Amino acid sequence: MRIPLIAGNWKLFKTLDEALDLVNQLKVLVKDIKKVEVVVAPVFTAIATVSKAVKGTPIQVSAQDCYWEEEGAFTGEVSPKLLKDAGCTHVIIGHSERRQYFAETNDTVNKKTKAALAAGLTVLLCVGETLSERESGSTFEVIESQVRGGLSGISSDDLKPIVIAYEPVWAIGTGKTATEQQAQEVHAFIRKLLSEMYSKKIASSTRILYGGSVKPDNIKGLMAQVDIDGALVGGASLKADSFAGIVGFNN
Ligand code: 13P
Repeated sequence: MRIPLIAGNWKLFKTLDEALDLVNQLKVLVKDIKKVEVVVAPVFTAIATVSKAVKGTPIQVSAQDCYWEEEGAFTGEVSPKLLKDAGCTHVIIGHSERRQYFAETNDTVNKKTKAALAAGLTVLLCVGETLSERESGSTFEVIESQVRGGLSGISSDDLKPIVIAYEPVWAIGTGKTATEQQAQEVHAFIRKLLSEMYSKKIASSTRILYGGSVKPDNIKGLMAQVDIDGALVGGASLKADSFAGIVGFNN
């Protein structure tokens, strides 16, 4: 049984006051929602505040990135251990914006993933092809190298607290969602790949989220697909009512 997971990636938005306001509204709106895991990912500076605010509620907190060393002379970086200390249970790794703008590679994604798993965080590992990669017919090749690269050297025992997020780059922030069929096709491919890399059992218990212009009016159709187990939501997670509308997709 894969419990659906809906995560809101707040990206570089929200001051402390705004973050608190959003999460306090969310607490009320999602309090009766059952059988869906809810995660929010604020900016680093708001993690501790938001974590305190959600204590005792089912809402969990994620970071948007981390470094792979635990501590040391690494100016500007934040380690998985410090994220846990601030109240995180999850961390997003390898988001396409980090791959695009911050020189993230499959190798750095792999190092970060290993460090985060070792610290006991659940990793939301992002993969996704660009528009030109899709148009040139290399979607599956790109996804395969990102999944294999990100998980390189990670054993099936360590893989447990991992969630894959398929986010086609061309669907992020564009209002252009992948069709349910396009998303399902890639999710099924990832699951098959996990079964080849690990086992059928691991593949069938690993959650694969879809991300890219998810809104309250398209979540139901996406969630109806057999291999879509939740969503990683950007823009629509910045407002309590739209995010709650997504979290409550089966109500
Ligand atoms: P949008 O929902 O704004 O398209 O963003 C998706 C995303 O990048 C989530 O990580």
